[in-house]
Amino acid sequence: MTSDILPGHPHFAYRGNALFGEDVRLGELAQTYGTPLFVYSKAAMLSALAAYQRGLAGRDAKICYAMKANSSLGVLQVFAQAGCGFDIVSGGELARVLAAGGEAQKIIFSGVGKTRAEMRQALAAGIGCFNVESEAELEVLSSVASAMALRAPVSIRVNPNIDPKTHPYISTGLKGNKFGVAHEDALRIYQRAASLKGLQVIGIDCHIGSQITDTAPYLDAMDRVLDLVATIEAAGMPLAHLDFGGGLGIDYKHDTPPAADVLWRLLLAKLDARGYGKRKLMIEPGRSLVGNAGVCLTEVLYLKPGEQKNFCIIDAAMNDLPRPALYQAFHAIVPVTLPEQEVPDAAKTRYDVVGPVCESGDWIGHDRALRVAAGDYLAVLSAGAYCMSMASNYNSRGRAAEILVDRNQFHIIRQRESIADQMRGEILIDASHA
Ligand code: LLP
Repeated sequence: MTSDILPGHPHFAYRGNALFGEDVRLGELAQTYGTPLFVYSKAAMLSALAAYQRGLAGRDAKICYAMKANSSLGVLQVFAQAGCGFDIVSGGELARVLAAGGEAQKIIFSGVGKTRAEMRQALAAGIGCFNVESEAELEVLSSVASAMALRAPVSIRVNPNIDPKTHPYISTGLKGNKFGVAHEDALRIYQRAASLKGLQVIGIDCHIGSQITDTAPYLDAMDRVLDLVATIEAAGMPLAHLDFGGGLGIDYKHDTPPAADVLWRLLLAKLDARGYGKRKLMIEPGRSLVGNAGVCLTEVLYLKPGEQKNFCIIDAAMNDLPRPALYQAFHAIVPVTLPEQEVPDAAKTRYDVVGPVCESGDWIGHDRALRVAAGDYLAVLSAGAYCMSMASNYNSRGRAAEILVDRNQFHIIRQRESIADQMRGEILIDASHA
């Protein structure tokens, strides 16, 4: 029996001609639970986390999973049990972390548009830190905390103006992005924060973008942040922690991001050289912890040959897998069952793999060489991050089910959304008023 590991997915492999997630046969899950179906590997998540833990071993460091990447409760539970903190961006995410058993003290709250109600909710829960993104937000947070007779722990997100060389929609640390405060305004804003009664300044943070596959932008951003730390501390404001954000990329298509431990060896060498090696550190990785820990299983509904293009119409769509439509993102697509005999590329057909949604933007893969028939199952790879958490009900499609595999066991962590689920909360207009 061969074991043929999928690129970038060490816990998904063909055994013989069947695709497995850990020790579970994915074709059987698709058959039993229907498609589209997200399947995650617990071991893949924990080994991605272990790379960061190795890289930061011996340091005073906290890993806060950026749960926007995948906020399903079963996924949060894995990271909470592994001792992670969480980076949240809404009151909804806060409630999810607490429901999954995460500790409030290990939560940091990012985002440019926190509402007063969300601030109150987070203060009442006792979160670890607010990562504040503007002067106006500082003032509001201070007044909300004061009204609760509390002092909100804050870090200010500074914008290091570094180009992470990633897709423009997911670069966040450049001038002209809506995030953070400008480098040149940072000292003044820290002074303002220090003067506000409802705040307790405890740190500094940055985040330069997502799907970063190079080490240079990280090293440059760290230098810029440390320059600011020196200036802020010289002005009499000690910073207990330094938070370097998230952003490490994954292998979607021959991408070669550094391993998390390799990246952190470089970053720690810089921190040590600049005298900050003993400082409390925080990071907020999202995609790199879950992206290649998940696949989306889908069934081929129809093949539609054409003069210019052949279409392979599957039952997953842009509402389940929004990244191709939003960012022209590439996700590899592989069969769940390989043919008995290896098929040479010349014997395959080139297809645009598309979903049932009524938009030309509803494509999952362009120009893919496949040997498929209606009824076959395919696996869309790298689907653990920013897929289910960005899924919608567009075209009144229910969101997919999710399964977490753990060696030869599996757990259904989300039931397929029913039509009743979708319509819950909607109200028909009373006929007498219509
Ligand atoms: N911290 C902050 C403040 C962030 O804004 C983000 C992501 C992260 C951490 C986590 O970054 P990661 O480690 O996942 O790269 N939907 C897009 C990605 C948007 C990322 C937004 N911020 C995509 O599918 O590519």
